[in-house]
Amino acid sequence: MTILVTGATGNIGRCVVERLVGAGQRVRAMTRDPRAARLPAGVEVVYGDFERPETWRDALEEIERVYLFPFAYVIPESDAGFVGEAVKAGVRRFVVHSAAAAEFPPGDDQYDQSISSLRRHLAMERDAHREQELLVEATDVEWTHVRPGLLAAGALGWAEQIRAGYPVVEPYGAAGSALVHEADVAEIAVAALLTDAHIGAAYTITGPAKVSQAEQVAAIAAATGQDIRFEEVSPEAALEHWHRQGYPHDIAAWLIESLAATVDGPGLVPATDTFERITGRPARTFAQWAVDHAEEFRVVGDTRAT
Ligand SMILES: NC(=O)c1ccc[n+]([C@@H]2O[C@H](COP(=O)([O-])OP(=O)(O)OC[C@H]3O[C@@H](n4cnc5c(N)ncnc54)[C@H](OP(=O)(O)O)[C@@H]3O)[C@@H](O)[C@H]2O)c1
Repeated sequence: MTILVTGATGNIGRCVVERLVGAGQRVRAMTRDPRAARLPAGVEVVYGDFERPETWRDALEEIERVYLFPFAYVIPESDAGFVGEAVKAGVRRFVVHSAAAAEFPPGDDQYDQSISSLRRHLAMERDAHREQELLVEATDVEWTHVRPGLLAAGALGWAEQIRAGYPVVEPYGAAGSALVHEADVAEIAVAALLTDAHIGAAYTITGPAKVSQAEQVAAIAAATGQDIRFEEVSPEAALEHWHRQGYPHDIAAWLIESLAATVDGPGLVPATDTFERITGRPARTFAQWAVDHAEEFRVVGDTRAT
């Protein structure tokens, strides 16, 4: 059996590929740029693009199980034909890379200008991910939905400035979420691909506890052995900076609202015990994530080993 991993070069997909290979599985990885994919030896890397249906047949040939990247999210206008083509080609199981947003309560509308930018954004996230889940549920094949909360990999957005030796400058240093390590998400996805124990389940997977922005930077500093300052700025200064950087107004608005909303309380997605329930091991911490990614934050010219 060959397993198709879509989004194979992404934060989670790459981990899924590595774990499947480690488990001795035959893996086909789909990407729009096979030459840049840098996937483990033995992986069959094929060109495939969710936006180009003519590329799907080769990717899907003789595939029974698929790790399905949230293409309805990256391509909102797609008619989502990939799922139908996959079933026609013989796919019998999907593990859907979704998001915790899929279970956000219904009600808000992404186009409703009377609600906040954040609520519109969350409604958009919910609808896009749930749409893809429903597409899969409407087929007659096996499925599991893997719904990560906010990914720890979001901190890679600071990597460039940290490598250049600059402090991390953000509003709301105390804002945070129970950030999830991509390896935890991949572990559950691989279990769902390889065993029958998770058929028909939808799992919201988060990190073990909320971690604030300032704590994230401290963890990266500890992991790299570098002195990295967190500099808190006012929301007004941040908005002005983001506008100068060319952030669309709506994105800047929901970003700042989401930070303000997570200074107190559990964050946008409260911590779950899903990973521990399934694996019997605690979820990986953000500190662990920082150790695993220390090289990506290493100041240029710093030769300290991790
Ligand atoms: N950010 C969060 O905190 C968060 C939380 C929950 C869920 N999510 C969901 O997870 C997704 C991100 O996952 P990730 O971080 O693992 O991925 P990622 O690192 O953002 O990588 C994106 C992947 O999508 C693939 N891709 C993009 N457009 C494609 C297309 N037209 N055709 C085929 N492949 C395409 C890319 O492949 P190539 O470039 O190699 O073609 C790449 O493998 C988000 O889109 C969101 O839906 C995010």
